[in-house]
Amino acid sequence: MVFKPAQWPRKLRSSEWFGGTSRDNIYHRSWMKNQGLPADLFDGRPVIGICNTWSELTPCNAHLRDLAERVKRGVYEAGGLPVEFPVFSTGESALRPTAMMYRNLASMDVEEALRANPVDAVVLMVGCDKTTPALLMGAASVDIPAIAVSGGPMLNGWFRNERVGSGTALWQMSEAIKAGTMSREDFLEAEQAMSRSAGSCNTMGTASTMASMAEALGMALSGNAAIPAVDSRRRVMAQLTGRRIVQMAKDDLKPSDILTREAFENAIRANGAIGGSTNAVIHLLALAGRVGVDLTLDDWDRLGRDVPTVVNLMPSGKYLMEEFFYAGGLPVVLKMLGEGGLLHRDALTVSGGTQWDQVKDAMNWNEDVIRPVDKALTRQGGIAVLRGNLAPNGAVLKPSAASEALMVHRGRAVVFEDIDDYKTKINDDTLDIDETCIMVLKNCGPRGYPGMAEVGNMGLPPKVLKKGITDMIRISDARMSGTAYGTVVLHTSPEAAAGGPLAIVRNGDFIELDVPDRRLHLDISDAELEQRLAAWECPFTPPAGGYARLYHDHVTGADTGADFDFLHGCRGNAVGKDSH
Ligand code: FES
Repeated sequence: MVFKPAQWPRKLRSSEWFGGTSRDNIYHRSWMKNQGLPADLFDGRPVIGICNTWSELTPCNAHLRDLAERVKRGVYEAGGLPVEFPVFSTGESALRPTAMMYRNLASMDVEEALRANPVDAVVLMVGCDKTTPALLMGAASVDIPAIAVSGGPMLNGWFRNERVGSGTALWQMSEAIKAGTMSREDFLEAEQAMSRSAGSCNTMGTASTMASMAEALGMALSGNAAIPAVDSRRRVMAQLTGRRIVQMAKDDLKPSDILTREAFENAIRANGAIGGSTNAVIHLLALAGRVGVDLTLDDWDRLGRDVPTVVNLMPSGKYLMEEFFYAGGLPVVLKMLGEGGLLHRDALTVSGGTQWDQVKDAMNWNEDVIRPVDKALTRQGGIAVLRGNLAPNGAVLKPSAASEALMVHRGRAVVFEDIDDYKTKINDDTLDIDETCIMVLKNCGPRGYPGMAEVGNMGLPPKVLKKGITDMIRISDARMSGTAYGTVVLHTSPEAAAGGPLAIVRNGDFIELDVPDRRLHLDISDAELEQRLAAWECPFTPPAGGYARLYHDHVTGADTGADFDFLHGCRGNAVGKDSH
């Protein structure tokens, strides 16, 4: 796509606040000057918001204040006026019940802060999982020029000469404890090795996936996704982003110019190639909803199906983000997609040029980290979208993280009514379960476990683990961490708490999973299914009030992105009346 920049100089939206000699203009400028800003900074130059998710309670983003200073440097160099402001920070590791419950809240915060304030463009400081989609969604709904800069991943974790992947190692080690192959003392010692530096999870978990999605969508500078948080080049990336956003403000290059259907298709294919998180499905569906792109769950299956997973990173593979960066990072992957006819080469990016311009000269420096197509980890990467009487609106599975032997399987259901029921029963050796069974977890969807917790990769029963078995089929309406793995069917829609068929599965029912055929079937008659659904009663009472009630009443299903129904679409950046 050829982008035509706006004429410059022109009147910017910040001039509504700062651009005249009225009492109100003086009022707005004067108070800003208490920060020691010289008068000539209000001469009509672009005012650049730096929207920061820094928080000490979001450890993955705790270094973003420092990085914001680099962005400011770049903004000043390019002749803009930077103004940093905080927004709700959705830290994955601490927030309860789930960080996902607050993604939409954070996006509202961003949207309203951008619209209400005198900013012409914005740099989105993101990192931990939900911060990236939340800020992109908020900015998309305002549609002022916006560019994301990620905090970058942590350095590799190492424990006894083995890589320790964020999250992935935690799941593996906790299973090893249950299997009796690791001691609690060793687990505690490994804890010290897991998070070696500032930054987000070092696996191809949701944070790294969403940083890659931002880059593949064209909403971040090329190369942004993989630079480690503590590498000096991360600071350079922040400074260059600051420089670039000033020109974007002058050119009026907006999210609606960049976030086209082609951009989303590029991102979906990139997700398949990197073995990205299933969470990207939900976030991109929600983001597409903000810009009016009619993206569906089936687009994920159709577009991702023939994309080989070439990035050999945990949880699908062996390496971590640091090595992905050394190998050349996402530009190499996008170039491979382009050479394979799987990239819309002319998709516009924040650079003002095309995606292909950005990646065509990328070099692969390590073909074990970024594999050639003929040595791909999985021929069919992407996300498999399953349908059937158990998931009329769809469910997802990540083939690159699943076991080949379980892709076609019929098994007896062992049902957990909710996560507490699961925790009560799973370690009980009298539980009637073996490795041929299918574990079913209900009431963990957007409404059932507010925010749709990452519990879909529920741990296996100890008596199965002790046999050396490491995978079983698990089905739920929950999500799973991007760092997790296994033959795990997620996002089953409609969710159980909304009366979806998952709600009426009983112990002893048989379930058929056929991933090549994209089928998820509860083996009971239609009449029996109807009868059970008619008799179903919602086991919950809605929250009494507050944000939890707003969430409950307005969150949409996982199959459409779990956004709020009233947040779909772009509401623009029109300035409200001045009250002074
Ligand atoms: Fe923040 Fe993984 S917990 S990126």
